[in-house]
Amino acid sequence: MLTTALTRNFAIDHPIIQAGMASDSGVTLAAAVSNAGGLGTVGSLGRTPDDLERELAAVRGATSRPWSVNLATFDWSPFAATLVDVAINARPPVVTLSFGDTIPALEKCRAAGLQVAVQVQTFETAQAVVAARPSAIIVQGNEAGGHTGLRGTLSFAAQVLEIADGIPVVIAGGIAGGRGLAAALAMGASGVLMGTRFKATPEFGGPRTGHLEAQRHAIVANDGDHTVGSTTADVALGMRWPEGIISRVLANRFTEEWHGREEALRAEVAVQTQPFGWTSAHNNRPENMLNWAGESSGLVHEILPAAEVVRRTVAEAEALLRGVGGVLG
Ligand SMILES: Cc1cc2nc3c(=O)[nH]c(=O)nc-3n(C[C@H](O)[C@H](O)[C@H](O)COP(=O)(O)O)c2cc1C
Repeated sequence: MLTTALTRNFAIDHPIIQAGMASDSGVTLAAAVSNAGGLGTVGSLGRTPDDLERELAAVRGATSRPWSVNLATFDWSPFAATLVDVAINARPPVVTLSFGDTIPALEKCRAAGLQVAVQVQTFETAQAVVAARPSAIIVQGNEAGGHTGLRGTLSFAAQVLEIADGIPVVIAGGIAGGRGLAAALAMGASGVLMGTRFKATPEFGGPRTGHLEAQRHAIVANDGDHTVGSTTADVALGMRWPEGIISRVLANRFTEEWHGREEALRAEVAVQTQPFGWTSAHNNRPENMLNWAGESSGLVHEILPAAEVVRRTVAEAEALLRGVGGVLG
């Protein structure tokens, strides 16, 4: 049993949070992780307020354990402000916030009596978030899949641990199993958050499998060397993310063709009349679709049920931590 401030404060069995991964992480994945003793998360990015309300009602029926809802708090995020209100009304056990200015949403959720974990991408933001005293702070390194910042996980996490002032620290980016969890706990963190590892589960995407099956297999096939962290994917989607935020996808035909040619891509996207028109027309085949995943793909060797990911991660970390005392002279 790995007991930390995170497991105690959030009333979960294991110090593992499943990342909210936009609308592809819904009730099926969140409930599977929470029922296995971790903290499952429903993603909100790409959902309408009605869709989020339905999903949160469903997760309440699917698990009696704590779960969370993830909110991407930046101005250009569709429905950003409304989704915060929808989340608060659902009374989730935990809210996770990330990107842009998280502090107004943190204060709003906390005023409503909710526990809030905030994901940060820079040390400067970490300092401001620590001063605002969230329930936990999630340090996100650049190895991460999906949208992320520019800091490498290890030194960034150590720096935030130095200033955390009693706030539980969770480490994200490049962690896909027990080695990462053991390392995080050994350096003083209270848990980990994993996205890429949970994307390669049958529960990711819920009933909407199809193209996601190819993405899961591409994660398993990737050795971790072949990812691209840049703005290219967002340029293709016609989306503007906050300064300093890039997105990491697996390298494929799309990144080969467009990475480094963002201005030409922007010009092609600008003539589209429909939202996401360029990607609908060009990224609809497995070999060139945008597959958000991180360097931890190199640690994902098979598609596993989410509960098994939780079980193996904990078992491996426990075994490693038991052995670690041996290095002390
Ligand atoms: C497919 C995918 C989608 C993601 N979507 C979101 C999101 O909607 N909101 C968010 O805060 N983070 C999102 N992230 C980033 C995660 O919160 C997390 O920081 C990251 O997955 C950790 O690194 P890892 O992928 O190596 O586990 C996403 C990550 C992935 C892989």
